[in-house]
Amino acid sequence: MQSACAPDGAWKRPIRSRDKIHFDGTHNQWRTPPIPCPADDGRSYGAQVLFGGPVLADHRLDRLLSENGLSEEQGSPPDSSEGARHRPIRSFVLRQGRVSNAQLRYYEGMMAGIGVPYVAAPHDLDTVFGRRAPKILEIGFGMGETTALVATANPQNDYLGIEVHTPGVGSLCKLVAESRLANVRIVQHDAVDVLREMIQPETLSGVHIFFPDPWPKARHHKRRLIQPPLVALLASRLQPGGYIHCATDWENYAEQMLAVLSAEPLLKNTADAFSPRPDYRPLTKFEQRGLRLGHGVWDVIFRHRQALLQAEDDRQD
Ligand SMILES: C[S@@+](CC[C@H](N)C(=O)[O-])C[C@H]1O[C@@H](n2cnc3c(N)ncnc32)[C@H](O)[C@@H]1O
Repeated sequence: MQSACAPDGAWKRPIRSRDKIHFDGTHNQWRTPPIPCPADDGRSYGAQVLFGGPVLADHRLDRLLSENGLSEEQGSPPDSSEGARHRPIRSFVLRQGRVSNAQLRYYEGMMAGIGVPYVAAPHDLDTVFGRRAPKILEIGFGMGETTALVATANPQNDYLGIEVHTPGVGSLCKLVAESRLANVRIVQHDAVDVLREMIQPETLSGVHIFFPDPWPKARHHKRRLIQPPLVALLASRLQPGGYIHCATDWENYAEQMLAVLSAEPLLKNTADAFSPRPDYRPLTKFEQRGLRLGHGVWDVIFRHRQALLQAEDDRQD
């Protein structure tokens, strides 16, 4: 099936009942087709996000990948250059997961509106969301169930979700469309680059990192997301008073989180050690099952120290 932009940039695929609506991120409202195409080169949105370069037009991402000799694990053609040998250690490995028809349909219908393309330049998040509101960033939202629940329960906040895995991005697009959420945006890219290049210092009210990949083998611990350099970067992006909330069901990783966040001079623990789960973090089915089986879950919540010190000063005055 063909899906392409008309010369004037309008979406020219025949309209089907199942993709009647989409979210217009520029004007912060839901609309009916025609929707604007992200670029005028005739490729599907997924192809443009994933490949940038060659002209491809097909709806099946896995077919796109295999036809071009790529797997999601590679993400790009083989590269034997000096730069490739010094590639940074990533906290994820892209698997060639199957993208369901529904995920792909919502991905392509929604990302033009709620997707924020990765561009290595500082972004004004109020402009991205079309309003002034507290901004919460989530790293690695997985299939997005928690993101959608938290965003639904807190319409006063804006949520910027970052995830690399296409089925998860498609899944969150679907949840956002079904609940008509206006306060969610998605960047599909490595969160480390996004934080460093796109997020400006002292702009975030909060950061959520729920159940990051535990990388249980000792030789893989270097891939864990919660490491001193990333935590320092996160702390620099928090507004005074902003918080970082991590949760894990892996005890050894929980201890690492506590140690690394405690060592960051800009942050202060909100509890003596681990925190009770705050009401805003919903229990996932996976977590409920784990708890029934007697497994532990640990929440770690730190705040930007400046605001806490100010509050202490105010109490003493
Ligand atoms: C174990 S899953 C947890 C998903 C979700 N937070 C939950 O609670 O179910 C971790 C997710 O983080 C994503 N991830 C890991 N490192 C990432 C990075 N550097 N940037 C963006 N996403 C990342 C992975 O693709 C994966 O979907």
